[in-house]
Amino acid sequence: MEIILAKRAGFCFGVKRATQMAFEAAEKEGKTYSLGPIIHSPQVVHRLEEMGVKVLKGLGEITDGTIIVRSHGVTSEELEEAVQKELEVVDATCPFVKKAQENVQNLSEAGYEVVVVGDADHPEVQGIVSYAKGKVYVVGSEEEAARLPKMKKIGIVAQTTQSFDNLKHVVLECLRKGAEIRIFNTICDATAVRQQEATALARTVDCMIVIGGYNSANTKRLAEVCAELQPRTHQIETAQEINPAWFGGVAKVGVTAGASTPKWLIDEVIERIREIDSAKTS
Ligand code: F3S
Repeated sequence: MEIILAKRAGFCFGVKRATQMAFEAAEKEGKTYSLGPIIHSPQVVHRLEEMGVKVLKGLGEITDGTIIVRSHGVTSEELEEAVQKELEVVDATCPFVKKAQENVQNLSEAGYEVVVVGDADHPEVQGIVSYAKGKVYVVGSEEEAARLPKMKKIGIVAQTTQSFDNLKHVVLECLRKGAEIRIFNTICDATAVRQQEATALARTVDCMIVIGGYNSANTKRLAEVCAELQPRTHQIETAQEINPAWFGGVAKVGVTAGASTPKWLIDEVIERIREIDSAKTS
């Protein structure tokens, strides 16, 4: 069987940076916490837990130690609370998410009502929204944008993982709502690039394996777009989940992984597929 790994499978720049910062912090003396899971990979979170990093829902009872801020950021209130408590903060927020937070703050300070294009329930969006000093709306689609009130000055920022088309449609809708509009395209193309590469690969193989956390939205989406082109698509978190029966009559296997999947998990999966293949041919 030929195994083809997508060129940009796995960690994006922001997740790689956050993971490195988290492991470095974990190696130091003292209590270490992360506000929410550092990235959407249960296996990475588990490794950090084994090194003593405790995942917190909120700062609550914590009075000392180091707090790691996850790649998709936290709210300004949570960050402020950590500073007030004089905790050591390792801010692993992805610089692209940080930029979106800064844009929201600057826009609202300049008197713009802010529209954040994204998913209101996503922690990244909740973090971005918290930087607004005035009115802020979260819209997920052009239909929701159509329900926005009329505004004088509108500032638009996007959740980093939004699609360009959705941002475009919301912007068009906002043109009907205000006379002055400022748009910051804060979309990060890491997700889109992974999707493009994965779909190109899914077209040419007989079976597609997508590796990544079941709690990772970008991995789930990656598996969905691949499944549209290749019905023999399977999402897994680890090599142990692979079923040898998936490879019956398969000559080419495509492998890709979400932006929060570490290289060691990808390597283990490839290794396991090789083992299954040699067992088939021996
Ligand atoms: Fe950052 Fe883009 Fe990854 S915003 S965390 S580099 S998907």
